[in-house]
Amino acid sequence: MKTANTDISTLIFATSNANKVKEVNAYLANKFLIKSLKDISFFDDIPETSPTIEGNAIQKAKFVFDNLGYNCFSEDTGFEVAGINGEPGVLAARYAGPKRDADANMKKVLDGLKENDNRKARFITVIALIIDGEIKCFEGICNGHVAVKKQGTNGFGYDPIFIPNDYDVTFAQMDMHEKSKISHRGKAMKKFVDFLSN
Ligand code: IMP
Repeated sequence: MKTANTDISTLIFATSNANKVKEVNAYLANKFLIKSLKDISFFDDIPETSPTIEGNAIQKAKFVFDNLGYNCFSEDTGFEVAGINGEPGVLAARYAGPKRDADANMKKVLDGLKENDNRKARFITVIALIIDGEIKCFEGICNGHVAVKKQGTNGFGYDPIFIPNDYDVTFAQMDMHEKSKISHRGKAMKKFVDFLSN
């Protein structure tokens, strides 16, 4: 069996998304030392070509394990909105084009809902952990709806237009710790940490 060169107390997070690193670090601080791809001097894009969230998460973790030789975890997040047939879905980052422009992506969602006002929405995160070639996945879902307009300046991506169930503010109006308690990523992280702790 192929083995990798980190112990379990140091985990490589297979992402170059600084916002995700910040959220995950806030969650895992005191438990694990998290290093991002930048911390190990890897600056290229990792292929994300699967049609599913889980497939992309696994692809990213496997890429780092196979090519760089680290045990690691990765995550992929999708955003599904009922009134636009479940779009943006797995293509959330590039919904309005290759530039990954969050404002353009949110505008496309809000414009799409002018045709059909079913604003029900959810985020889905899958974390894929690879240890010595063995893969385990952890899923977190956060249900809510799309706001009528952008509100708040915290967070990233679609946060300014997403209102989680039982709240009347968007993720972008919450601080990071409040968001993590109820978010898709926070829920997946909890399962991930429980697994590592056991
Ligand atoms: P990916 O997982 O990096 O492919 O991200 C997919 C897309 O969803 C990107 O546009 C992100 O900005 C967005 N996204 C991922 N996580 C969140 C989140 O927690 N809140 C809002 N948008 C997010």
